[in-house]
Amino acid sequence: MKKPWGGRFARRTDPEVERFSASIHFDCRLAGEDIEGSLAHVDALAAAGIITAGEAADISGGLEEIRAEIEAGKFEADHSYEDIHMYIENRLSEKIGETGGKLHTGRSRNDQVALDMHLYIKKELGAIDRLLDALQRTLCDLAAAHTGTLMPGYTHLQRAQPVRLAHHLLSYFWMFQRDRERLRGAYRRADIMPLGAGALAGSGFPLDRERVAARLGFTDLYENSIDAVSDRDYLLEFLSFASICMMHLSRIGEELVLWSSAEFGFMEMDDAHATGSSLMPQKKNPDIAELVRGKTGRVFGNLVGLLTTMKGLPLSYNRDMQEDKEGVFDTIDTLKPALSLTREMLRSARFNRAEMEEAVRDVSAMATDIADYLVTRGVPFRDSHHLVGQMVAYSREHGKSLDELTTDELCRFHPSLDAEKMEKLLDPFTSTESRTIRGGVSEAALKKQLAAAREAVLPTIGSPDPE
Ligand code: ARG
Repeated sequence: MKKPWGGRFARRTDPEVERFSASIHFDCRLAGEDIEGSLAHVDALAAAGIITAGEAADISGGLEEIRAEIEAGKFEADHSYEDIHMYIENRLSEKIGETGGKLHTGRSRNDQVALDMHLYIKKELGAIDRLLDALQRTLCDLAAAHTGTLMPGYTHLQRAQPVRLAHHLLSYFWMFQRDRERLRGAYRRADIMPLGAGALAGSGFPLDRERVAARLGFTDLYENSIDAVSDRDYLLEFLSFASICMMHLSRIGEELVLWSSAEFGFMEMDDAHATGSSLMPQKKNPDIAELVRGKTGRVFGNLVGLLTTMKGLPLSYNRDMQEDKEGVFDTIDTLKPALSLTREMLRSARFNRAEMEEAVRDVSAMATDIADYLVTRGVPFRDSHHLVGQMVAYSREHGKSLDELTTDELCRFHPSLDAEKMEKLLDPFTSTESRTIRGGVSEAALKKQLAAAREAVLPTIGSPDPE
């Protein structure tokens, strides 16, 4: 293939150089965006009188044909083309002849590739937002179904205080709410149009950038051409958002792994989301939850990779920046199935209510409630905490649990305690129902929280996913 920049070169490129520098095998994903951007550029060239209406029609017709070819799979990522932009331009000239050579007037691959990535990431952020929306709705539905299911809440992975399964699940709802807010920040910064920046100093032709932006659905334009071609913040923001979101998914993944173990027994994964062992016939492994947890590592790696690539780069465009793509694509390909599979795993899991309630009857988890009760009898909290600590130690020493202590024994710790009082205090429902505070675990507080969650769900952004 003849290089579009071949004019000043006398000798051909070393094939190893072609292989090393080619990006076509991954940036071919941008074909749709590249053609969209070129169509808008052709329109602007014609509107400015730089090409004729007839030439614009020929170029646009050729681009539409190429789009159809690529969609039909008639495309091979041959690295001699270097990248998708040169492939499409070259193919255009093959199709329509000399006029094809007018497409790149007033444009550089630097503003072109930036435009393509902005368009692409906006589209994908829309798709990811819809997946987050679906996951949040599933969490709300599960919460509604499990308002009455008690389970131990944990700190340090030690049983701490009784909670409701709904409350536990809704805590994830709010994490994803913040993720969707961060996603909107990344979207706002992606929604700025770089085309017209040229190589770095602004196009030499009087193109109507507002016209191009409106056609391509951008809210804003870059005000500085150097910034336009060298900015990768919007990708870093996407990767930061994705990293935090994957971190959240990895925590759910971990809990699904723990909960489906015999040690917890809180849930059983649906067969569709579990795998067997090639050696041990009894095994049902939560591989998908493990992989959601495990794939978090590559997403963090992609963020650190691009941060490292960008660090210390002089202005404006540098070829290093071609390295922005694979990590972003890999992150999209990891995050999307992680979101949909997490939703499916949660939706199809069977929660073992009896096992959770058995665990929540572990009366030591009600120790705080005894201490709180003594506070209502005038004991300063630090003293009541100490007293209940001694009670726990005493019961351990005598091989009893707290609910087996007699009134005689209880009186020694505080005169207001007796066996009847203890029975009430050690009921996990007494514990949860006392926490009526906003954000607390009582049934009334939880119902308010669920209503607030449903109310808080954001409208999805972007156009509907064609897939
Ligand atoms: N493939 C390149 C990239 O992804 C396109 C821009 C190339 N520009 C250049 N001046 N070599 O960044």
